[in-house]
Amino acid sequence: MKKILITGGGGYIGSMLSTELINQGYKVTVIDILKYDKGSLDHLYFNKNFIFINNDVGNTSLLKKQIKEHDFIIPLAALVGAPLCEKNKKDAVAINFGSIKTILNNLNNKNKLIYLTTNSGYGIGKKNKYCDENSPLKPISLYGQTKCDAENEVQKFKNTISFRLATVFGASYRMRSDLLVNNFVQRAVEKNYIEIFEPKFRRNFIHIKDVVKAIIFSIENFNKLKSNVYNLGLSSANITKIDLAKKIKKQLKTLKIKVIKNRSDPDKRDYFVSNVKIEKKGFKATISIEEGIRELIEVFKNNSNKITNNY
Ligand SMILES: NC(=O)c1ccc[n+]([C@@H]2O[C@H](COP(=O)([O-])OP(=O)(O)OC[C@H]3O[C@@H](n4cnc5c(N)ncnc54)[C@H](O)[C@@H]3O)[C@@H](O)[C@H]2O)c1
Repeated sequence: MKKILITGGGGYIGSMLSTELINQGYKVTVIDILKYDKGSLDHLYFNKNFIFINNDVGNTSLLKKQIKEHDFIIPLAALVGAPLCEKNKKDAVAINFGSIKTILNNLNNKNKLIYLTTNSGYGIGKKNKYCDENSPLKPISLYGQTKCDAENEVQKFKNTISFRLATVFGASYRMRSDLLVNNFVQRAVEKNYIEIFEPKFRRNFIHIKDVVKAIIFSIENFNKLKSNVYNLGLSSANITKIDLAKKIKKQLKTLKIKVIKNRSDPDKRDYFVSNVKIEKKGFKATISIEEGIRELIEVFKNNSNKITNNY
């Protein structure tokens, strides 16, 4: 069975991905310092196909050794999000960019690498822009910059696939409530009130289980997909912030939504993202925003202690 190395495998996406890979019979090694939820991988330690290494991706000799022993490398370890990177600039560059360079420099001919980056630089300054993979990425945060720089390096290597992700939503073993859908639902459940700036800003979204499915699809169809970058989002979910709030209100009827005028959102995303390229290769995200909202309402209603944010 294929051996998969995941850095940052204890995180929001990584813990869900590791779990599904183990369920499907893959051998998985995770390197992570478990910065947030220390228990996000507890349910995997029993499985003999799962190895956990509590260590830092700055440890080059460890990375070198582990890369040699694995077929697929999925480097997820990062300082994720603009606020966190602003607070820790040096570490952001070292982890988000430096560790990817180290990994790339140590790949052998057999290694295959799958990289996740953000599509958040699309559409900046271009109202109602329709974005595909050829649209320029102009990151406005250090986070976006480190991810774009790393993606550029990844693209120099043939045995790689990059996914530019829409904003992810849904429950995970390591929960994040800073992501837009998760955040709106949390506020709706806890305060019964959402304030929105720039309500007409449009974004693309994707459920975390669809992200996991896409990565496993790309492992199984690597040769068909390799040497390329793909947008990854739910095509029916290019929706505005106010549309999103209204969808939540449909499930939480008493919710109050207040639109704040004359206040700008530092996050300038306003775009329509095309996911046609990956869909033509045979993968299509299917989990709806409504299903995710229903799930998230239960998470925030029943287990609000679990939320450990990263900023
Ligand atoms: N969630 C999204 O919407 C989204 C969108 C686009 C791209 N991504 C990318 O996906 C990846 C995972 O993001 P996530 O949402 O799961 O975030 P996350 O913060 O939950 O996961 C990051 C993981 O990396 C680990 N980590 C951080 N620094 C480390 C270090 N020095 N050594 C070892 N481990 C370290 C953390 O402990 C954490 O478990 C990131 O590369 C991110 O840029 C995420």
